[in-house]
Amino acid sequence: MLAVNELKDIQGKRVLVRVDFNVPLKEGAIRDDNRVVAALPTIQELINKGAKVILFSHLGKIKHKEAPEVIEAAKKKNNLAPVAKRLGELLKKDVKFANTTRGSEVTSLVNSLNNGDVLLLQNTRYEKGEEKNDADLSKDWAALADAYVMDAFGSAHRAHASTYGVPEILKKEGKQVAIGYLVKKEVDNLMRCVEVKDADRPYIAILGGLKVSDKIKVIESLLKKCDKILIGGAMAYTFQKALGHKIGTSPVENDQLEYAMRCFKEANGKIVLPVDSMVANGFEGWTEKKEVGLDIPDGFQGMDIGPKTRELFASEIKKAKMIFWNGPMGVFEQKDFQEGTISICKAVASLNNVFSVCGGGDSAAAIKEFGYKDKFSHVSTGGGASLEMIENDGHLPGVDIIK
Ligand code: 3PG
Repeated sequence: MLAVNELKDIQGKRVLVRVDFNVPLKEGAIRDDNRVVAALPTIQELINKGAKVILFSHLGKIKHKEAPEVIEAAKKKNNLAPVAKRLGELLKKDVKFANTTRGSEVTSLVNSLNNGDVLLLQNTRYEKGEEKNDADLSKDWAALADAYVMDAFGSAHRAHASTYGVPEILKKEGKQVAIGYLVKKEVDNLMRCVEVKDADRPYIAILGGLKVSDKIKVIESLLKKCDKILIGGAMAYTFQKALGHKIGTSPVENDQLEYAMRCFKEANGKIVLPVDSMVANGFEGWTEKKEVGLDIPDGFQGMDIGPKTRELFASEIKKAKMIFWNGPMGVFEQKDFQEGTISICKAVASLNNVFSVCGGGDSAAAIKEFGYKDKFSHVSTGGGASLEMIENDGHLPGVDIIK
């Protein structure tokens, strides 16, 4: 698989780069530019080599089955213009922006590019064919490029037109396709959690988040790879109920109880569940919180792992040579229920010579918020993509198509 630095003779060539600029926006302002910063090494490499750099990315969700006014509002909300501005500031150079995704405006902007110029196209999801990997759309985008670089790790689990259809066409045409520096770094780090070496054992996974159903495939895969899986967050309450404990008004997936019970039994001690919880009498606007053991009383819901669980999980983490973490331990958006997630950060931070990966999404946001980002060996920019990489033994459509 070619990497961006191995592309040949790209001076003056149009290089189409799929980036993941799906950044959180509030009223048009970027709240976290981490994904833009993460794409800079690839973009800079292409600028330095005198390529004409054409960037494209999705932003947010646009449901094309909705009424026209709903689609228009979604487009307005998910406009990439502020990202072009931020990218220009970070690169310290002018970044051109095409307000559309294809057609004459895009073609003439591409034709006007000089060597080393950068152009960002409007949100790929403005096109209803993007998520369907539409052949005509892929053809139109492929026609803009002499070479293609995949650097959108966060979108590599999507076989969309921009991530799959375009490189597929360009490969058939004998054009160069490559991965960018970000995708290379992500794949190299995450592969270590997929193909586990003896020297990396004990390998401990920590899973949290809301739903068991979202994590079934990753649990199945991790059970084969890991030595222990520590489960916290809201998904733990489905396991607790399946094992006969009272869970009060905690979130639960009743259709997953049978699975949770079977999975726990077959794991033969590999799955470690919370032994206590911090609970409250409501999710927001609660008036009472307390610490409880394995059973949660009526009228209360679990909001975080409790102190004994924090200790239990920390003692397991201390034995690890490799850690993979995805999903917070509690409602870390509320100050009263951050302790569980912070305790995982602290336990990982106290380790020496341990390879630790945080698999993106909410846990990556929490690590950043609590100031532990530098304490991890790798913090992924792709929540869904890193989980799918583990689930599918290292395969992602957006990376496999480059191979
Ligand atoms: C993400 O934020 O996880 C990626 O950008 C993918 O976004 P998507 O789930 O909307 O495809």
